Amino acid sequence: MKHTSPFCERGSMRVIILGTGALGCLFAARLAPHAEVWVLGTWREGVAALQREGVRVHEADHIWRASVRAADDPAAVPVSDIALVLVKSYQTERAAAWAARRLAPDGLAVTLQNGLDNGARLIATIGEERVAIGVTFEGATLLGPGEVRHAGRGPTYIGIHPAMASRARAFVSLLREAGFEVHATRDIEGMLWDKAVVNAAINPLTALWRVPNGELLTHADRRSLLAALARETVTVARARGVALPSPDPVAHVKAVCRATASNRSSMLQDVERGRPTEIDSINGVIVAEGRRLGVPTPVNEVVWRLVRGIR
Ligand code: PAF
Repeated sequence: MKHTSPFCERGSMRVIILGTGALGCLFAARLAPHAEVWVLGTWREGVAALQREGVRVHEADHIWRASVRAADDPAAVPVSDIALVLVKSYQTERAAAWAARRLAPDGLAVTLQNGLDNGARLIATIGEERVAIGVTFEGATLLGPGEVRHAGRGPTYIGIHPAMASRARAFVSLLREAGFEVHATRDIEGMLWDKAVVNAAINPLTALWRVPNGELLTHADRRSLLAALARETVTVARARGVALPSPDPVAHVKAVCRATASNRSSMLQDVERGRPTEIDSINGVIVAEGRRLGVPTPVNEVVWRLVRGIR
């Protein structure tokens, strides 16, 4: 980080978390003792609860609370070092515009969202040297405004490239101080597609059948579609030249179903609340990439259209 950075002048980092949902609340609560944390979002009840009472985090065996600053207007948030983007992927353009307004000239926007196209959409507004693409396997469920269940711990990966390496490493250190398991990597594409294989298979099927993740393994027809979606996505990723870290992606998807058996996927929660879903950034991108690379993706295309047609 340059010496003109507000981070260095203040001695602690100022982080804006964009998004008042489950992961936004979890990251805000864990970072709050280690940085000046602002949560910025459009959900009025969520922002009001955060301003009033901070975040309440339900762990397996206890509940704890963290004070954070929160606002629904970017003008109320000071210029910051980091903008951690945790909004739904259909809100990425607004988050990019807000981050561009409140990031320091040498600040960094970091996306940990589900989906394959958020990084490119942030870069279009903020610029490549100010965007880091990441992936998180932390599990969290929103229980109400400002209240989150930490459903499962998992690693977080942050992609590093030379134009922003020192700033990204400073943020990685901060996340580690806050207790997250974080890995800096030069190959974020592999992790991004690894998670996309999981999301492309589990999220639309749980949303269409309205079942928790574990129920996808209880029936031969469900297992067969789950595997078909995973295999198609793997074929697209490989055609793109992505090296997937999981040696057997179908087995990996099934293992995630077992490990998160009682979870209602984020897409199922969106459908149940009558909200838009992230289908375009997951299966929609896979279909588009398949077309571009000449890889057929009929199963992804059908679930993409089925989920788009809900409501
Ligand atoms: O989007 C989700 O819900 C999660 O990424 C996952 C891994 C499918 C677990 O529910």
